[in-house]
Amino acid sequence: MDMGHSPLQVLIMLNNKRFLITGISDAGSLAMHAAKAIIEQGGQVVCAGLGITPHHADLSEKARAYLSANETAFRDAVRTELGEDTPIVILDATQEESMVDLAETLAKQGLHLDGFLHSIAMDRTIRNKTVKPLLDVTLDEFCDTLGISAFSLIRITHHLLKTGTLQKGASICSLSYIAAEKVTFHPYRNMSVAKAALERITIALADELGRSHGIRVNALRFSPYLGSKAGSATLEPKDVAKAESMSPLGNAGPRDLALEIVHLFQPDLRITGEIRHIDGGYHIIG
Ligand SMILES: NC(=O)c1ccc[n+]([C@@H]2O[C@H](COP(=O)([O-])OP(=O)(O)OC[C@H]3O[C@@H](n4cnc5c(N)ncnc54)[C@H](O)[C@@H]3O)[C@@H](O)[C@H]2O)c1
Repeated sequence: MDMGHSPLQVLIMLNNKRFLITGISDAGSLAMHAAKAIIEQGGQVVCAGLGITPHHADLSEKARAYLSANETAFRDAVRTELGEDTPIVILDATQEESMVDLAETLAKQGLHLDGFLHSIAMDRTIRNKTVKPLLDVTLDEFCDTLGISAFSLIRITHHLLKTGTLQKGASICSLSYIAAEKVTFHPYRNMSVAKAALERITIALADELGRSHGIRVNALRFSPYLGSKAGSATLEPKDVAKAESMSPLGNAGPRDLALEIVHLFQPDLRITGEIRHIDGGYHIIG
């Protein structure tokens, strides 16, 4: 019996759809894996990466060198892995003006979006794999981490909607970690509060944007992963090995995550406000 699905229809899920991908630092970034899977499924991507924006004044030499190295690595990775023609925008999520610029640039270029991936996190209380106890975190450190890693989801969405860039029915995904809810075996303190906020923002935006624009908002909690800058700055190989042994299916990999993002980016799904686990079942273990 003809079920009405040709293999092509089943495979190519994101034809003529365009997504903004934030958080690419290099080829190992989780966001890069997502971008590649989107392109495989017929979708297009626009990439926003950290670098020097027109709003950076009086940068210290150290800060300039850091941002410049990040921008070069971002540009190289996108060119090499996704192709010369991939549109790029420089974004610093600590700057409101930079998020405005992002939305206005996309609007001016007519790059309407069917969704975006928030894959941005930064916590300066983690240095050389040492994590400051929450008791010692300063207000500045707390607000920085929360602003970059959680509040930016609200502001990027705000500006993309304001410029008419984010289409009705779009899909937004962000990346979280089980430490948003539970104390994990490796220390994860200030950032765990930001992840909890990111997840709460996810469900609040799912309610607001579902009603106002038919837009879906979901968060994905992923296994520990050493292959990215953020992962290698935070985790020890033994942490990843421990999660691997505790998870019924072993750790999920970046490809598992990318395929779930593709799934949630499909048009017309009625899935929103979910905090999903892409973690080989780690979350069911007591
Ligand atoms: N690696 C893991 O083990 C793991 C597990 C679960 C969830 N996550 C989450 O996945 C997401 C991506 O992390 P990743 O592992 O791919 O590491 P990554 O280092 O490749 O990605 C983090 C990104 O955040 C960007 N960023 C930081 N500050 C920014 C700013 N001010 N403005 C704009 N961008 C900024 C960085 O440039 C980088 O591209 C993060 O939210 C992270 O918390 C990671």
